[in-house]
Amino acid sequence: MTETTFTPRVFSGIQPSGDLHLGNYLGALKRFADAQDKGVQSIYCMVDLHAITVPQNPADLKRSTRELAAGFIASGVSPEKSILINQSQVPEHAQLAWIFNCVARMGWMGRMTQWKDKAGKNAEAASLGLFAYPALMAADILIYHATHVPVGEDQKQHLELTRDIAAKFNHDYGVDFFPITEPVIEGAATRVMSLRDGAKKMSKSDPSDASRINLTDDADTIAKKIRKAKTDPDALPSEVEGLKDRPEARNLVNIYAGLNDQTVEQVLADHGGQQFGTFKPALAELAVSKIAPISTEMARLMSDVTEIDRLLAHGAEQAREISAPILKKTYEIVGMVG
Ligand code: TYM
Repeated sequence: MTETTFTPRVFSGIQPSGDLHLGNYLGALKRFADAQDKGVQSIYCMVDLHAITVPQNPADLKRSTRELAAGFIASGVSPEKSILINQSQVPEHAQLAWIFNCVARMGWMGRMTQWKDKAGKNAEAASLGLFAYPALMAADILIYHATHVPVGEDQKQHLELTRDIAAKFNHDYGVDFFPITEPVIEGAATRVMSLRDGAKKMSKSDPSDASRINLTDDADTIAKKIRKAKTDPDALPSEVEGLKDRPEARNLVNIYAGLNDQTVEQVLADHGGQQFGTFKPALAELAVSKIAPISTEMARLMSDVTEIDRLLAHGAEQAREISAPILKKTYEIVGMVG
């Protein structure tokens, strides 16, 4: 079989299940804007069908989806340069997911750490959707034959599964139809940790609001959360090795590097030797200068939800021009009459 060359195309998604935080921004949103500006066709998605794998209040889900759209745009994702969509408005995602449910193996799903974390000890009570979640995620990506997926570190295992699903489909049907997607996990801040505990990921599900910086936080709140962030008593080292076994210090340096488009080495060259009493105000000033304008812009965009809905309807139309022919061809390969 000759190997097909797929046109480079970027896809990524975020769940509309609560406030966006600094981890989402540095691990994903900021990098989406960078990818889009490199001129590769990019599709960015609010994954509302993923969000309902755990219970959601319908009114909150609607608000969060629109707010997430505002967050994408305020972070620099342009609806003119990229295709911006809400997952349920492009039905081909769910349709391809069904096919992938029949390709993926139960054992693969059961090994997903996110499934184990979210289902906890009571897997019997978890939804079937939560178990099948990674097959839908594979469908999100492969319904566009996307070749590159920028994500944070925590999505790596799901992307490996996406590759396994594409390879198994291609193998089972003797085709070279789905690309083997490349995860793009780059930069200093692919795993932003909690501000209260350097061993825990910054996450929207953490009960402590002080553990994360939300993109909707105002300047004072951002500065206060950084001032109160957990640290150790030592000065910053001037070499990266000096951050070993100092998870909180490492996290704040990573955040600084991510926000300022620098490497950790560059940050330490400038700030090595400083006490946190000096470094934290510098970080707070940087964070406020980058995040506060996003929160202001999100609020402005949210004052006109009709415009957001119009943009999403337009995005769905553009997306379906790509997804519908790929679904049709998939059905043909599988043997559906139509
Ligand atoms: P979600 O909604 O949990 O997170 C969205 C993006 O933010 C990144 N992220 C982080 N990056 C660095 N540090 C953190 N603390 C942090 N927390 C979150 C995530 O890695 C992700 O890139 N399953 C996905 C959504 C999804 C998807 C897709 C992604 C559905 N279909 C297809 C890519 C392609 C999720 O739950 O992300």
